[in-house]
Amino acid sequence: MNLTIIGTGYVGLVSGTCFAEMGNNVTCIDIDSKKIEGLKNGIIPIYEPGLESIVKQNIKNKTLHFSTDLKDSLKKCDIAFIAVGTPMGQDGSADLKYVLQVAKEIGEYMTSSLIVVDKSTVPVGTADKVKATIQKELDNRNIDLSFDVVSNPEFLKEGDAISDFMKPDRVVIGSNSEEATKIMRQLYKPFFRVTTDRVIAMDVRSAEMTKYVANAMLATKISFMNEIANICEIIGADVNKVRIGIGSDSRIGYSFIYPGSGYGGSCFPKDVKALQRTAQEHGYSPKLIEAVEEVNDKQKLVIANKIIEKYGTDLKGKTFAIWGLSFKPGTDDMREAPAIYIIKKLTEMGAKIHAYDPKAMDEAKHFYLKDVKNIEYFSSKYETLKNSDAMILLTEWKEFRSPDFEELKLQLKEPIIFDGRNQYNDELMKGRGFEYYQIGKKT
Ligand code: UGA
Repeated sequence: MNLTIIGTGYVGLVSGTCFAEMGNNVTCIDIDSKKIEGLKNGIIPIYEPGLESIVKQNIKNKTLHFSTDLKDSLKKCDIAFIAVGTPMGQDGSADLKYVLQVAKEIGEYMTSSLIVVDKSTVPVGTADKVKATIQKELDNRNIDLSFDVVSNPEFLKEGDAISDFMKPDRVVIGSNSEEATKIMRQLYKPFFRVTTDRVIAMDVRSAEMTKYVANAMLATKISFMNEIANICEIIGADVNKVRIGIGSDSRIGYSFIYPGSGYGGSCFPKDVKALQRTAQEHGYSPKLIEAVEEVNDKQKLVIANKIIEKYGTDLKGKTFAIWGLSFKPGTDDMREAPAIYIIKKLTEMGAKIHAYDPKAMDEAKHFYLKDVKNIEYFSSKYETLKNSDAMILLTEWKEFRSPDFEELKLQLKEPIIFDGRNQYNDELMKGRGFEYYQIGKKT
């Protein structure tokens, strides 16, 4: 099929590339000409394992094209995907200005019947707005073209995006047109073995809602577990054991119940807020979802509070080695990363930071920690330790899971670790002579 993907952000670029990999003829469109020029030469603006080689391969195979010319791309297009950003507006709701601008342009430029797909995460009711916007432009042009607007939310995770897209748990298609559903099913058929077709078709509004509910449910599991961790600590239980104890119940399961320094990223914080706003706009006060966000905001500072408890509020003269800046391993993304909040708090109190992250240091230097003065970046995790009073682990990158503990002891002023991701066994750490602080168990 001929596909146009509008927006070469995370979702657009990964979707376009994976559709091309399945043999479709894909054109990815963006208004950022510099980005498009880079992509034509295989320069990927984000870090995502495996993406670069598939992009390059499909450029070579002529299945994947990059352009700024939407009008031209729509001349030969079966399905147009809207995959532009939906940033958080000031009131927490999703800002639809980019989505509706694209809808307007589709209405201005389309020349034959088309399926328009909302791939961006958009609030319930957006497909109706997209439809009305396109129709208005067609009316202005005094032209009668048929089109359907379909909701096809994306569930991929950063760091695992390619495998999530190529082997999805499910594909949700929200459409009020049987014909459009049929074509969307055909598009996704190659992603499933014949016996495991996991395309779930439903009406548009339910599909739009499904995306928010999936993210809010996962965020709820995390906040619930973080709250339990804090209670465990006070009453003398070990949340790591409790986690295993409850996860073994197949109704609960082990995934997304890891306590830590809170969830970050571009999705959970934004989508939890947007769901709250949607409910409130309709006169409903979503108590549980509000609490999920509140617990998460507090959780980001639990490790900083442990440090203050130990050293006091004046941290002048103290240096901390930070291992991990990105919001999770496998990405250079620092949006809403706990590291931002923790580093800002510690430096405000006078501390000096030695930081290392395998991928996110450029993001930190140029954007998220640009204004932080008392921070120095190092090119290896061990280099951060020299003259540091303690090590603070904030992202569970694989290279942090089994470090040379003797080296840590040798380099740190004192053998002290604050672990915001519960990566080590506290009995073993005590045996190795460390003072070990973690989430959800008293030291
Ligand atoms: C999330 C969803 O998992 C995807 O299904 C969804 O498509 C995506 O949002 C989106 O809406 O685009 P992502 O933000 O890439 O994906 O990251 P996750 O792997 O879900 O992790 C989110 C945060 O939760 C991270 O900060 C992670 O450290 C934290 N987390 C996760 C925990 O604290 N505990 C856990 O047990 C699991």
